[in-house]
Amino acid sequence: MKDITILGIETSCDETSAAVVKNGRKVLSNVISSQIDLHQKYGGVVPEIASRKHVELVIPVINQALDEAGISKREIDAIGVTYGPGLVGALLVGLSAAKAMAFALDKPLVGVHHIEGHIAANYIEYEDLEPPFICLVVSGGHSHIVYVKDYDSFEILGKARDDAAGEAFDKVARAVGLGYPGGPLIDKAAKNGDGKSIHFPRVYFADGILDFSFSGLKTAVLNYLNTMEQKGEAYSVENVCASFQEAVVDVLVRNLLLAAEVKNINKVALAGGVAANSKLRRELMVRASGKNIKVCYPKPILCTDNAAMIASAAYYEFLKGRKADLNLNAVPGLKLGSGNL
Ligand code: KG4
Ligand code: ZN
Repeated sequence: MKDITILGIETSCDETSAAVVKNGRKVLSNVISSQIDLHQKYGGVVPEIASRKHVELVIPVINQALDEAGISKREIDAIGVTYGPGLVGALLVGLSAAKAMAFALDKPLVGVHHIEGHIAANYIEYEDLEPPFICLVVSGGHSHIVYVKDYDSFEILGKARDDAAGEAFDKVARAVGLGYPGGPLIDKAAKNGDGKSIHFPRVYFADGILDFSFSGLKTAVLNYLNTMEQKGEAYSVENVCASFQEAVVDVLVRNLLLAAEVKNINKVALAGGVAANSKLRRELMVRASGKNIKVCYPKPILCTDNAAMIASAAYYEFLKGRKADLNLNAVPGLKLGSGNL
């Protein structure tokens, strides 16, 4: 079969990224320009600032991705772009660039669901990985357990009813004064803490329901901090981070493995920014061993937002003949599995 080379573009939140990926699995370049520094002082992503920065960066980042891949625009077979979910102003920047290129170069345009992209990061990491498998997608905006039946067929088995896992990490990090984004900082601080030192609550739903709820856990951490402050007692930030992280990981791993059991699937994967969490990766490995379950997770740079994962997902959509036209619009609340047009 002829090689298919796809240019991926991702601007759904605060990373401007472009990548060139061959046959859905081989990354020729993956340029990620993060705006974290700009948003740090506000404690979170400011949508207007994100859009403006994407406008400045999108073309240079695309050009750099093509240069690093050693390929010209004309040699690209298709352009894959995230069109939802995400911040509408941010999405529109990448989408407009992708549509302009598709029109000018007369290349097919493929619209990609951001979460589908996160899942596809696993195809890059494991060149033999094929569906079906169960994927836990945990990012700043999502906590989903997804039954990946095929490259383009998904069933959501469980999801966050309130705060997403990454959101909980970010809020707790802010409360203990660690800054933004909180996930990596909590991960680091927790390495010097004792995860059993404070018991924070875990929410499990009855009757095999695999949803998540992290807002009660976040409130429990805030209450603990307030109580300690009111009593004038010192607390260990490392112990709070480790105990909070342990509670989140407990629930995530338990529900993911339960989903695999219910669906009788022996392959599970992690995806999304929180999938970079060292405790989550380790704990999943430990609890899956002895159950004859294969565990996959992408390297950290492929867990957080990047365009290589978007190009990979676009490849499988492209193979199915799912091409978008130039009317493709940004859909901030796009649902997984809702079609690509
Ligand atoms: O997937 P992502 O880059 O962007 C979204 O699509 O949301 O995920 C960002 C989220 C943030 O909430 C960040 O704190 C979290 O992923 N994160 C982590 C780690 N690295 C990033 N959470 C826990 N541990 C980490 N090592
Ligand atoms: Zn993401």
